[in-house]
Amino acid sequence: MGWSRARTIQVAGAGPDWTNTVRKGRTRSEFDAVTAEADASLPSDKTQCALQGLGGSSLSIFVLYTPYHISEYTMPESLRRVLVTGGAGYIGSHVIYSLQDTRRYKVISVDNHHNSTPKSLVRVAELARSNLPADASEQDKDSAEIDAFAADLTKPEEVRKVFERYGKGGIWGVVHIAAYKAVGESTEIPLTYYANNVGATITLLQIMAEFDCTRIVYSSSATVYGTPPIIPIPETTRLEAQSPYGKTKIMCETVIEDLCNAEPKTWRALSLRYFNPAGAHPSGQIGEDPRGRPGNLLPLLAHMAIGRVKDPKLNVFGNDYPTPDGTCVRDYLHVLDLAKGHLLALDALAPQSKVFDNCPGEGRYKAYNLGKGKGMSVLQIVDAMRKATAYDYKYEIIGRRKGDVPDLTADPALAERELGFKAQQTLETMCRDLWNWQTKNPNGYDGDGSVGFGIFWSNTADRSTGSVVMLR
Ligand SMILES: NC(=O)c1ccc[n+]([C@@H]2O[C@H](COP(=O)([O-])OP(=O)(O)OC[C@H]3O[C@@H](n4cnc5c(N)ncnc54)[C@H](O)[C@@H]3O)[C@@H](O)[C@H]2O)c1
Repeated sequence: MGWSRARTIQVAGAGPDWTNTVRKGRTRSEFDAVTAEADASLPSDKTQCALQGLGGSSLSIFVLYTPYHISEYTMPESLRRVLVTGGAGYIGSHVIYSLQDTRRYKVISVDNHHNSTPKSLVRVAELARSNLPADASEQDKDSAEIDAFAADLTKPEEVRKVFERYGKGGIWGVVHIAAYKAVGESTEIPLTYYANNVGATITLLQIMAEFDCTRIVYSSSATVYGTPPIIPIPETTRLEAQSPYGKTKIMCETVIEDLCNAEPKTWRALSLRYFNPAGAHPSGQIGEDPRGRPGNLLPLLAHMAIGRVKDPKLNVFGNDYPTPDGTCVRDYLHVLDLAKGHLLALDALAPQSKVFDNCPGEGRYKAYNLGKGKGMSVLQIVDAMRKATAYDYKYEIIGRRKGDVPDLTADPALAERELGFKAQQTLETMCRDLWNWQTKNPNGYDGDGSVGFGIFWSNTADRSTGSVVMLR
């Protein structure tokens, strides 16, 4: 006997008279009790399905089933609450967009805005509302709103407050994206990086456990491979990060894996090792908005073309690497392709998923590369951005930069086979969408004259917004 919150369900061999009741969200142990009760009510040939129901303001439908009876889905599902950490950041905002676009999720965002502005969340919610069909149901409209909390993940009391709002079992799963991410900075202030990235992850996991929320998708990075011995890089490559930032990613993966091994019946987790996300939503409403001089190549090229960089000459670090044109090679994927990978990963955490069937032990933990499997050199990127922007980039080849790795190209076969992930959008599309975002928002979200904060409330106490809630 398993359980599922399915869109729709049709039970093989079941007639129209199968038991159908609805149940509000419950903890796993409470649910197991209900399952046993429902099981007892099933006919002996077990061709019937029982839906148990409790009603209430927030309705969740749990479908109780014997796995071999599920053939096709036919009953409507309520929204799954998914908490996204770092939701206001570059990747977080696109992940929230993709979650809302399905109209299957109710998104809760937690961000302390260390490297972001809540204006991005306002824009995402606007996009979701504008994508609603004319005949949108109340549930559809609810899915287009974000419960957004300004909270610091390193502070247990702030995180607990968020979970308390939804109660035990009230949050289906977490997409943990928040982190500090600057490789160079992490070598200067390693303690800050370990405290924020590893500390926050441990706090989050502890509080998730308190609230019976035991599904997590974790944002990892290709940087965990250091200088990889094999290109394209398979997930089986030894992990050997060279910067404190990269090491925090390995540490968090390890912590999560250990937890899954220690409590295999409770936890399910997937780490997604991102390669180089690029581009923006094609509307130009959301995009990457780095503080100061961008550390990554594509946003730097966009800032140069828009006139935000003082010295408009690009330094190319080395052209004597063992790559086709001698410059470093990276695997760029569109940020919306990456975001879709999170939807697939969340689906893979559902009880009926098969992705953990081939795990070596009992623990339900896996890591997947999310990349295109196609490397692009620095000079190829400059050329693609020249075509997108019509800006005449000047560059100078200077010596190699310490810590740079010649080639980071993913082997994305495992994610394609097991998750159904494929990063399809081209480099031209990434550059076009990046440039569209940059031209519409030359100063990023800061140039946005709107008073996004106007819709935020200063605390969450008993106030249901139907929009965006701010916890301070
Ligand atoms: N962008 C990339 O090229 C890239 C590549 C590989 C992996 N990643 C990983 O993806 C994730 C997101 O990257 P991004 O590019 O969107 O970065 P980002 O800085 O735009 O987003 C991260 C968000 O997390 C928030 N945050 C950080 N610490 C927090 C804390 N203690 N409490 C609450 N919120 C906190 C920040 O304010 C920010 O909004 C990170 O984990 C990063 O390591 C990014």
